[in-house]
Amino acid sequence: MRYYIEDLKNYVGQTVELKGWAFNLRGSKNFKFLILRDGTGLCQCVVAEGESEKESFDNFSQLTQECTVRVVGTVREESRSPGGYELLVKNFEILAPSVDYPITHKEHGPDFLMNHRHLWLRGKRQHAILRVRSEIISAIRDFFDGRGFVCTDAPIFTPSACEGTSTLFQTQYFDEKAYLSQSGQLYMEATAAAQGKVYCFGPTFRAEKSKTRRHLIEFWMVEPEVAFNDLYDNMELAEQFVEYIVQRTIKNKRTELEALGRDLSKLEPIKTPFPRLHYKEAVDIILKENANFIVGDDFGAPDEAILCTKFEKPVFVHHFPSAIKAFYMKHDEKEPEYSMSCDLLATEGYGEIIGGGQREESLKALEKRILEHKLKIEDFQWYLDLRRYGSFPHSGFGLGIERTVAWICGLQHVRETIPFPRLYGRSYP
Ligand code: 4AD
Ligand code: MG
Repeated sequence: MRYYIEDLKNYVGQTVELKGWAFNLRGSKNFKFLILRDGTGLCQCVVAEGESEKESFDNFSQLTQECTVRVVGTVREESRSPGGYELLVKNFEILAPSVDYPITHKEHGPDFLMNHRHLWLRGKRQHAILRVRSEIISAIRDFFDGRGFVCTDAPIFTPSACEGTSTLFQTQYFDEKAYLSQSGQLYMEATAAAQGKVYCFGPTFRAEKSKTRRHLIEFWMVEPEVAFNDLYDNMELAEQFVEYIVQRTIKNKRTELEALGRDLSKLEPIKTPFPRLHYKEAVDIILKENANFIVGDDFGAPDEAILCTKFEKPVFVHHFPSAIKAFYMKHDEKEPEYSMSCDLLATEGYGEIIGGGQREESLKALEKRILEHKLKIEDFQWYLDLRRYGSFPHSGFGLGIERTVAWICGLQHVRETIPFPRLYGRSYP
């Protein structure tokens, strides 16, 4: 029988065996305390003179931070133990040593921690963050699976660019060149014609040569695509999706969010409908605080911050200028200089977490756009086939997992939102 710390409430008064790692150690003359960590939680294990076996009491000083240990003892309620239950130890056995564990309970700088990411993951904060991330991923899948979407994952090796050529990662594919996927979108447009409502969820790659708090080189993106949805249907789907993720995470991971010090009163109002701004309306707001903003440009992080601190809910900006958007974006027939695009900006200055829109469905318009964007038309023949054989209005979006985790957890930097971040200038460990 395997016992876990998170289940101890079911075993009060019983003798159990726990296996884990020594998270913290302290002691007085007659009582010694081992805080045991087993992945599911922390538990105070009390080694007491006269009550625990003598050998275990005498050997307590052999325990070191992060050594592997097997502990046998009786479970009892104790409000001062991290999970509310403690173990009165009968005996323990050190299963593997840990000498001079590099991460102590003192402060360490980010570079040091990043170099020890494989160990840093064992810390309390990182433990809570990755549990929130896992919940967000389950929520994402449940949302789409529960609404009849079919998961149709996209390839990682791709022959062409989706989001512009400047951030492409080139690699060798036997005798040919290939690129690591920047987005599964173009493939989802194909599977949407086969299945109606689809999504993909996988790693994406962008060779972004800049160090910022919200850019990773390798990040995870979920991308739904729906046949016969227009821009407005797309925003409705996106807001329902974000409400679902946020509310479910608050419900199921409250303890972790509280441990991270997250102010939940900032997340509780995240309910549909979300405010929507035309690019022109957003620019009017930005210009009041940033007179240097150039109308027609994309927003920088400070511009997004101006917008999203105005609302207690995430805000959509739609109809970005066609000139700054990708080749596949549909232009609005009523004002062709603006595109049927939409970004969703998260609250509290977190900025863009979703990018998407309605796709161009006209073969002629797309052929022209591909040439204007100086992309190789032969690479896109398969994509153009989707317009040759039963073209259809459709829309979709991509939500970046790491930015969403940073926002929901209230973190300063995306580097803590993924187990092993890939950043500009860092691919170790
Ligand atoms: O706005 P983006 O570039 O949109 C697309 O890739 C579309 N093809 C998606 C679609 O319509 N199917 O990226 C979408 C989201 C961003 O809003 C952001 O959350 C995240 O992906 N993202 C990044 N996250 C971390 N690091 C980076 N370098 C990111 N680049 C984009
Ligand atoms: Mg974007």
